Amino acid sequence: MEFQAKTSSPLTQRTACLVLPIYDNSKLSGVTAELNDACDGMIAKLVKQGDIKGSVGATRTLHGLTGCKADRVILLGLGKQNEALTAEKFDKAIKKAAAAIKATPAKDATVCLDDVTVADRDDAWKAHQTAKHFTDATYQFTQLKSKKAPVINLKKLHYAIADKKLQKAVSAALTRGNATAIGMALCKDLGNLPGNVCTPTYLADEAKKMARGNTKLTAKALNEKQMRDLKMGSLLSVSAGSEQEARLIVLDYKGGKKSDKPIVLVGKGITFDTGGISLKPGAGMDEMKFDMCGAASVLGTMKAITEMNLPLNVVAVVAAAENMPGSRATKPGDIVTSMSGQTIEILNTDAEGRLVLCDALTYAERFKPKAVVDVATLTGACVVALGKHASGLYSNNDDLAEQLLQAGQRAGDKAWHMPLWDEYQQQLDSNFADIANIGGPGGGSITAACFLSRFTKAYDWAHLDIAGTAWNSGAAKGATGRPVSLLVEFLQQHAS
Ligand code: BES
Ligand code: MN
Ligand code: ZN
Repeated sequence: MEFQAKTSSPLTQRTACLVLPIYDNSKLSGVTAELNDACDGMIAKLVKQGDIKGSVGATRTLHGLTGCKADRVILLGLGKQNEALTAEKFDKAIKKAAAAIKATPAKDATVCLDDVTVADRDDAWKAHQTAKHFTDATYQFTQLKSKKAPVINLKKLHYAIADKKLQKAVSAALTRGNATAIGMALCKDLGNLPGNVCTPTYLADEAKKMARGNTKLTAKALNEKQMRDLKMGSLLSVSAGSEQEARLIVLDYKGGKKSDKPIVLVGKGITFDTGGISLKPGAGMDEMKFDMCGAASVLGTMKAITEMNLPLNVVAVVAAAENMPGSRATKPGDIVTSMSGQTIEILNTDAEGRLVLCDALTYAERFKPKAVVDVATLTGACVVALGKHASGLYSNNDDLAEQLLQAGQRAGDKAWHMPLWDEYQQQLDSNFADIANIGGPGGGSITAACFLSRFTKAYDWAHLDIAGTAWNSGAAKGATGRPVSLLVEFLQQHAS
């Protein structure tokens, strides 16, 4: 989609769809009031009759209004004008506006949110979120349907601003918001693809495809032989039962100075998680195709920052493998040696995410990182603890944790800080090896993070457990594109 900041008066602009704010139980104001005057009080009348409501996200589409050059006008409810409009409410309203426009044949639209005040947010933020939500609203996953998808008409969005001084900041924000949603779309595509298509080699090919023709990006993928040479015994124990070879994918983005230390993003890329010999129950197992959403979000983030040309060095490391039972599969009780040299007793082959991540995290040391952030659909326990609204955040550095929490807040892609206290570590004690791969029934998301912390002592590190946030179940089953927004926002803060 194309975005443009426009300073001309919205009412004189020829457009297929004009989006204007309206508040609950308040006098009309701004451009909405202007239009009302120009059409003989039509809007006020409809409000009085109760045909137009101003509750957050309510939309009403009107046709044939005099006083403007729009084929249709959508009035978008923003709640009570005397109550603070929170960032969450603004996001909700914008998503509804995009959905309402999508239901019309409009090829372009003009949104007038200039005099809308959002608590603790500025004009650039509003523009950024608008572009992000509109591009995201045009996402559809239809590549595996044999019937053609219904076309989405909307191609261009004008973002009206009254003050010319805002033009530069708003234009830049629109571009960045759009780029973020492009990254989210890649994340969703990879997540939604089934396990028989999206294999470790498929993910590696995607990374290579992204790097092709881009001088700032280089991609490589280690095969099992190369990983064996690096002594990644833990990662390889996960792919042992599968016909699909594991891959360690490295995507290197050099947008900053040569001497700048990179931020390393590490993604869990289990392209299907059957549980292995500790086989999962059948119900809902199809959703374990989403067990590579950490990897997908890391690749999506790389796509977004490449699109926006971020001046920063970032390395993505993806640990890709398929977790299958089989005669060569790892068995409960097996002991493997990780790349770090620590031995691991695998008491449950379904706790495989941490087994691939620990070797990828040791590998990350070679980049001398400024910080490492891993992203993983790691534990069902995290879904129990936080549900679908927040990702679980763990860190060995409180500053880094705070940066990620703030980024999540700003992006509307929230995380919640969880404890990584020493008290939990002893749950990972093993009678036979240095560490066990499960920590018992209590605090399952925490002990998984504790496991990872044994491999991240060389640098500042944070871990995002996205088991609850990466995809939706039920009728709206599908990848969400989270936490691409959070990560892109975090990297943007580091770039500025
Ligand atoms: N991929 C799963 C975690 C998961 C489960 C994410 C359900 C989203 C929904 C992970 O590999 C796993 O199976 N974890 C086990 C760990 C347990 C064996 C200690 C879990 O959460 O049950
Ligand atoms: Mn598992
Ligand atoms: Zn898993």
